[in-house]
Amino acid sequence: MSNHMLKSLAVAVTIAGLAATPASHSHLNDKELAQSYRQSWFALVAANFGPMVSTVKGEVPWDQARMQAWSDELATLMSINIMRGFADGTDKGTTRAKPEIWENKADYESKMDKLKEAAAKLQEVTANGDRKAIAQQVGATGKACKSCHDDYRAKEYLY
Ligand code: HEC
Repeated sequence: MSNHMLKSLAVAVTIAGLAATPASHSHLNDKELAQSYRQSWFALVAANFGPMVSTVKGEVPWDQARMQAWSDELATLMSINIMRGFADGTDKGTTRAKPEIWENKADYESKMDKLKEAAAKLQEVTANGDRKAIAQQVGATGKACKSCHDDYRAKEYLY
């Protein structure tokens, strides 16, 4: 990836308010594999979705090929069973995942399903190229992120 691309990615993710991980925090901790697994997945999700948010906001020039690539990668990430990263007994550790996740697994999973549906639709409308429809679906997808974060993600690390 070019330096310019990396920079615009970092900017995009920051703008989308998604870069909340301290630089010192490593994504791979062999004592906390599930926590690393889920956090790495969210990082990949954000690295693909963030630039789409910046694009529809007009903060970076619209590049349809890249929009399609981001939405394709996002949809591909949805094929991973991320609930493996929320297995029983993985609530503690270096994490911002609230304990309520393990108390309300079905509700949590239904919010995850909403994200999957939104990302699938985003891939579809992005392939069609209608910018207004794409912007709308980026908004809907962002709501799926927020609705889960509001209930289940803490602002600070918990333990
Ligand atoms: C069903 C719930 C849910 C949905 C939907 C969801 N998230 Fe999250 N997200 C979480 C939880 C819980 C954490 C905290 C994980 C942890 O710290 O172990 C998290 C963490 C993150 C992180 C920080 C990862 C790290 O490095 O520690 C980012 C970035 C993020 N989410 C972005 C997104 C984006 C972007 C979307 C939508 C495209 C999204 N999330 C949708 C629940 C969700």
